[in-house]
Amino acid sequence: MAEKPLVDLLLLHAGQLVTVAGASASPKRGAEMTQIGVIEDGAVAVRGGVIVAVGTTREVLAKVESYLDTRVVDAGGKVVLPGLVDPHTHLVFAGSREHELELKLRGMGYLDILKAGGGILSTVRAARAAGKEELVLIGRKYLDQVLSQGTTTAEVKSGYGLTLEDEIKTLEVIRELDRSHPVDLVPTFLGAHAIPEEYNRGNPEGYVNLVVEEMLPAVAREGLAEFCDVFCEEGVFSVEQSRRILLAAKEKGFKLKIHADEIVSLGGGELAAEVGAVSADHLMAVSDQGIEQMARNGTIAVLLPATTFCLMGKQYAPARKMLEKGLPVALASDFNPGSSPVNSLQVVMGIACRQLKMTPAEVISAVTINAAHAIGKAAEVGSIEVGKKADLVVFDAPTYQYLPYRFGTNLVETVIKAGQIVVGG
Ligand code: NIG
Ligand code: FE
Repeated sequence: MAEKPLVDLLLLHAGQLVTVAGASASPKRGAEMTQIGVIEDGAVAVRGGVIVAVGTTREVLAKVESYLDTRVVDAGGKVVLPGLVDPHTHLVFAGSREHELELKLRGMGYLDILKAGGGILSTVRAARAAGKEELVLIGRKYLDQVLSQGTTTAEVKSGYGLTLEDEIKTLEVIRELDRSHPVDLVPTFLGAHAIPEEYNRGNPEGYVNLVVEEMLPAVAREGLAEFCDVFCEEGVFSVEQSRRILLAAKEKGFKLKIHADEIVSLGGGELAAEVGAVSADHLMAVSDQGIEQMARNGTIAVLLPATTFCLMGKQYAPARKMLEKGLPVALASDFNPGSSPVNSLQVVMGIACRQLKMTPAEVISAVTINAAHAIGKAAEVGSIEVGKKADLVVFDAPTYQYLPYRFGTNLVETVIKAGQIVVGG
């Protein structure tokens, strides 16, 4: 008989262990998103930071051997999920923009604020003025917040530097945060986030040239980002400019993302399909054709309903239509100082049920395995399966439906990251 593995950590007695298993090779679509693999009285065994057994408490205890130092976490009948994955954030920034709330209440639009030199451009001024150490300290504070709310992996974009030097500085900050904080980070280069003031008056093409000819080669050379993203929007980067940047990035080996059809329907969804982007994000104003082309090309729709909520938008992304058409849907916070100062995926889940009309099970697939696919990490995280990283969250909830129902309260009790208890316990 094969020897039973000795384990470092045992999580026992989850009232509902939500595994979201079986979709590590390709993201969940349509009805698959409702199947989240719930095990009652579930348990997980961990060795060396990796999951070695999953099943009912009885099954797992029969399969593994514990020793004196094995940590035992009793979930006490509560809900356990895979560590949440946030596939779209702008987490490295300086300053804040609470004054924009009042401008918006007086009727000023997001793009009007940007046009007047505020919005993203005001954060660019703050981020350029900040030193690397300062940005690391601020970033660490935000990562502590997201970890305490159950997020164990996040994508983070640059995009508030907008000079070669400041974009590299931001990406180095992301690398430093990844190395020194339990939350795993996936870096994205978003040099094409806005046209900076020094180019805005008459030379936007000059800035696109800078992104393509200088920034992309430098970021690739230093290995500082896995993805390249573009804010394709009216008055920001046109479809043509976005295409040029994304194709240049693809040639350099970057995977692609697009801020697509966020405010104006420009054809960002179609462009994502055309260039083979891993995901198109936002999509509040996506066309039917965009949805169809994305479905055909396997592009993941990353939806950001907290942004629509904070922008006080009337039109949320057509999630139900996307699900019907077989588009894999993921959810993200979009955490940034302007359009979404929200960094809790629990809040995003609550809004997604109410405004996107997604069910609690669909929402859970969207913040775990599909989110992991959206950042190329589905082989490692996003589900509770043997061989995956032991990223687990215990929520003080009797059922998984309770999570989006009770949004607004942090229900996280314990967070385990790669087999280590990093919150609670
Ligand atoms: O995803 N749309 C562009 N970028 C962010 C907002 C960034 C900001 O306002 O600072 C977004 O909404
Ligand atoms: Fe964004």
